Amino acid sequence: MPQAAPTTSMSRDRVCVVTGATRGIGRATAIALAKLGAQVVVVGRDSDRMDEVRREAERTANADVSCIKADFASFASVRRAAEEIVHRWPAVHVLINNAGINAGRRQVSVDGFELTFAVNYLAPFLLTSLLVPALAAGAPSRIVNVTSVFAHMAGVDVGDIMFERRRYSSTRAYNQSKLATAMFTMELARRLASSGITVNCVSPGLVATDLMREHWWFQPRWLRVLWSRWLLSPDDAATRVVRVATSEALDGVNGRCFAATLRPVSLPGRAHNEALRRALWDLSVRLTNAELVVPASRARAPRGA
Ligand SMILES: NC(=O)c1ccc[n+]([C@@H]2O[C@H](COP(=O)([O-])OP(=O)(O)OC[C@H]3O[C@@H](n4cnc5c(N)ncnc54)[C@H](OP(=O)(O)O)[C@@H]3O)[C@@H](O)[C@H]2O)c1
Repeated sequence: MPQAAPTTSMSRDRVCVVTGATRGIGRATAIALAKLGAQVVVVGRDSDRMDEVRREAERTANADVSCIKADFASFASVRRAAEEIVHRWPAVHVLINNAGINAGRRQVSVDGFELTFAVNYLAPFLLTSLLVPALAAGAPSRIVNVTSVFAHMAGVDVGDIMFERRRYSSTRAYNQSKLATAMFTMELARRLASSGITVNCVSPGLVATDLMREHWWFQPRWLRVLWSRWLLSPDDAATRVVRVATSEALDGVNGRCFAATLRPVSLPGRAHNEALRRALWDLSVRLTNAELVVPASRARAPRGA
């Protein structure tokens, strides 16, 4: 895979939707895309935080940034946000599914689903399905899903995905959601092959963000300072995400995972299990009532999937 120079600009008519853009990796990604010149749609649940990001982008990049409110713990909220996005931007060029949590204890979403799975996986599954027509209108377009190296240590139990019978562990729930993201990436890439929409994931590395804030052992200030010395900065992680979202070297590349470079890294072994991927897909459709309408095929076949 060639190592292309980083993208230095994007045309103003490129619309990039970034979820979880109010903190950490998503915030840095939204600002970086704004600096490249794209129109950025910040998706978040907190209006004040979204306004802060918009103001920062306008200050540093004279950018075109809009905010769409969505709580990923509620399918109704995700559906409203998708409707508004499609209405305001009928053509979308980049969707970055970044919003995520690492919950300290078992909680449930508004719809009654285990919260980590609902926020990290089901909500992006639903949002993506609803935005596919806009992504098709913007084709060639890209979906970038943020997964984690911990997906390699995970299992997906489609029989008890919500930890109703298994003993709940926040680590297992988080890792499962990130493996599900990798499986979704592969399965969606397969289903959208030849549509002009490519789907890849990024494993951004270990990054100093607020992700672990619900865990008591992460809360002391001195510990956070120590971590921020060892871990990647959100800006460095965002560079990785933005590269996958924008690099011309990845034109047409589909169904791959990237980390520090444009050389694909291996997806977790379980993501290659086609039967498991289909079972997860069917379960996700049942839980979200999402319906993926596969756009008509475009001439150029993507590389990779
Ligand atoms: N940090 C790492 O080392 C690491 C490593 C690999 C992968 N990742 C992944 O990277 C992504 C971003 O994480 P981060 O590390 O940047 O964490 P973060 O600083 O905690 O940011 C998470 C973002 O997700 C949003 N979010 C959380 N719950 C939400 C909900 N119910 N509805 C809408 N938005 C919600 C947050 O919004 P609020 O501001 O409203 O809380 C925030 O903008 C996640 O998918 C995570 O799994 C992180």
